[in-house]
Amino acid sequence: MGRKRTERIVFENVEVLDAGAKGVSVAKAPDGKVIFLPNVVPGDVVDVQTVKKRKAYYEGKAIKIHSYSTHRIDPVCQHFGACGGCKWQNMAYPQQLFYKNQEVYNNLKRIGKIELPEFEPILGSEKQFFYRNKMEFSFSNARWLTEEEIKSGEELGRENALGFHIPKMWDKILDIKKCHLQQDPSNALRNEIRDFANNHAMEFYNPRENSGFLRTLMIRTASTGEIMVLIQFFKEDKKNRELLLDFLKERFPEITSLQYVINSKANDTIYDQEVICYHGRDYILEEMEGLKFSINAKSFYQTNSEQAYELYAITRDFAGLTGEELVYDLYTGTGTIAQFVSKKAKKVIGVEAVPEAIADAKLNAERNQITNCEFFVGDMKNVFNDEFISTHGQPDVIITDPPRDGMHKDVVEQILKIAPQRVVYVSCNSATQARDLALMDEVYKVVRVRPVDMFPQTHHVENVVLLEKK
Ligand SMILES: C[S@@+](CC[C@H](N)C(=O)[O-])C[C@H]1O[C@@H](n2cnc3c(N)ncnc32)[C@H](O)[C@@H]1O
Repeated sequence: MGRKRTERIVFENVEVLDAGAKGVSVAKAPDGKVIFLPNVVPGDVVDVQTVKKRKAYYEGKAIKIHSYSTHRIDPVCQHFGACGGCKWQNMAYPQQLFYKNQEVYNNLKRIGKIELPEFEPILGSEKQFFYRNKMEFSFSNARWLTEEEIKSGEELGRENALGFHIPKMWDKILDIKKCHLQQDPSNALRNEIRDFANNHAMEFYNPRENSGFLRTLMIRTASTGEIMVLIQFFKEDKKNRELLLDFLKERFPEITSLQYVINSKANDTIYDQEVICYHGRDYILEEMEGLKFSINAKSFYQTNSEQAYELYAITRDFAGLTGEELVYDLYTGTGTIAQFVSKKAKKVIGVEAVPEAIADAKLNAERNQITNCEFFVGDMKNVFNDEFISTHGQPDVIITDPPRDGMHKDVVEQILKIAPQRVVYVSCNSATQARDLALMDEVYKVVRVRPVDMFPQTHHVENVVLLEKK
């Protein structure tokens, strides 16, 4: 039985037709079934070997390229292919935008099944590389060997790595020499940390045995030039910990915030861990349109700062504020959208589930001398109820920016019940956004749609929709 599923078939001269969800491309097999293929570009003609056979589709890989798509470009990164981070680096940027736009359109049309206005042109990111303000790398004592390295026949031992997880392989880390996603000194920091640790025989984490010393590295950079470095250790080893942190402090005096965590849990999330500040302050400052936002090790902040500004500007424009409105900012995070629109509103109420984020939102508002924003913490489906509305007032505009799962149906129902004139729906997942828009269709008409690209080289896309009461 298992054998049948893994039976390898080769299809020759197949044209890649489309770029699908999750960054894989789509072709058609001679039997009519869809084939999902990574690392190829629509327009390529390839021989495909299947790696998985399912009832309705195949998963495959290109084993030979007969002719290249005109939209294909050379990836700039030496890790392209092995690293799962930038799947579309071999596709020209205008084409990436085309497929992102198409994905949003198809989701809104097919899942939402609603009437749509003509889309406003997708907003591309000015920076197509080095746009991320936060990167997380993992240490491992079992470096992932690429196909080329294995084929080279060289003697390859068990080596340390500091880089990214190989897709779908929790214990394998690709050693990253240069990543094109975060500005310097990100690469220098990572490479020097790895070299220093190796030179001082510090143990890298062993994911299989759950042992070792060095576990993860997080680097945050801000448009203000401030830098945060956080090292997660698996266990305390004061001598080596101080050796490494002192080295960083001296070698990179530009670090604003040098922090660490000692985490011996099975998983490496730091959200339930104590973060200790070793040097400098425990936060960095980001700036947007004169507003300052403090970001600590656990804070959520949009990862492409420049595009976040564009996203918020579109959101504010869609909200059509005159200065008289009561605005609700649902899923406010650290209150960035709320503060960004506050100048043009009478009052803004932000709601968010994470207490630390709300604490940050309040601090940031104070720092920015904003007095017309109020923030409340709680699960949206419980907090955003009739009592909340009667206490804080009927909103004129609701801005909502939920996580990937979209809004809970009770939240959608509550919006429909209080039915403000305008709702601006910001989403990082147009499939769940489409589902929610369908639920709102009886009361609201979609009047503006504008996708925004926050993550060049990946298939991810943000979408802003303006709904007006019918
Ligand atoms: C996509 S982020 C938006 C953050 C913010 N608007 C920004 O631009 O920085 C979604 C936010 O929703 C919050 N969240 C997730 N589930 C929630 C829930 N059930 N109730 C309230 N907030 C929730 C998350 O903590 C996160 O801050």
